[in-house]
Amino acid sequence: MSEEEGVLDLMVESLTRIADGVLQVTLVDPDGYWLPEWTPGAHIDIETPAGPRQYSLCGDPEDRTRYTIGVLRESASRGGSTHVHDVLRPGDLVEVGGPRNHFELLPAKRYLFIAGGIGITPLLPMIRDVEARGEDWKLVYGGRSRASMGFLEKLAAYGDKVELWPEDEHGLLPLDRLLTDAPDDLGIYCCGPSGLLDVIEGRCETLAGVSVHLERFTAKDLSGLVDTPFTVICAKSEVEREVPAGTSVLDVLEQEGISVSNACREGVCGSCEVAILDGTPEHRDSIRVGAELDDTSSLAVCVSRATTPRLVLDI
Ligand code: FES
Repeated sequence: MSEEEGVLDLMVESLTRIADGVLQVTLVDPDGYWLPEWTPGAHIDIETPAGPRQYSLCGDPEDRTRYTIGVLRESASRGGSTHVHDVLRPGDLVEVGGPRNHFELLPAKRYLFIAGGIGITPLLPMIRDVEARGEDWKLVYGGRSRASMGFLEKLAAYGDKVELWPEDEHGLLPLDRLLTDAPDDLGIYCCGPSGLLDVIEGRCETLAGVSVHLERFTAKDLSGLVDTPFTVICAKSEVEREVPAGTSVLDVLEQEGISVSNACREGVCGSCEVAILDGTPEHRDSIRVGAELDDTSSLAVCVSRATTPRLVLDI
């Protein structure tokens, strides 16, 4: 462990090309210690020269000796995925934050998993879990082409519960078929490009008896939103400050010397959630969907604001 709480110094054990532009990376403790526990849907933060990047854990949660992630070389990479692909080599040490889980697998009568490209990664341990419990489930996995779709060998073991949907063979994912007449108590878990998630989020708003859970790799577009100033009160630190338009709660807290962990500063990772004691948040993170947007217990201070004039935080 490094000095910072919750940060591990892990060693790259292996990097394996498993599809076009996709590396499977395994990380271990350099001294062979077991790693912190995690549950399906969890992600870790990998520190890169371009800042921390979030990657879903896709191995077996029962295996405490290593973390496994899949890393797509992003065509519009800001430096994170190219660092992993071009610079990291077996034996290198990396700083790892987490694991954290904001994409938890919840009880449902049946499950529909929808993956777009590298979005398959958080779904793999979920599928392992529901299969082991004998649950009713199906995966529809889309990608540009079969060659670009990782983990196909692993998925082959599940037979016709897995429907592969390479775009160059079949076109776009068949969302009409999947979401029309969705059965009651269906849990939908989807991870992939934001365009796919936006469509599914919009379609599921009108579906009764369906719970939808999305995992985004990139932040929602917040550019059209208008900021209203409000007052943030930090109960433990006894600080009261205005949060002006264009300034985040996180910025204000840092200006006051109040430390909050923040791995992405764009509402994706969930590391900056702070408990609310009073007031109503305006959630702008890319984690909450549906009824979760009514959550008044905490907010991601890097992007979310308040709809009330005062917001009292437990910090
Ligand atoms: S720092 Fe990642 S959600 Fe706020």
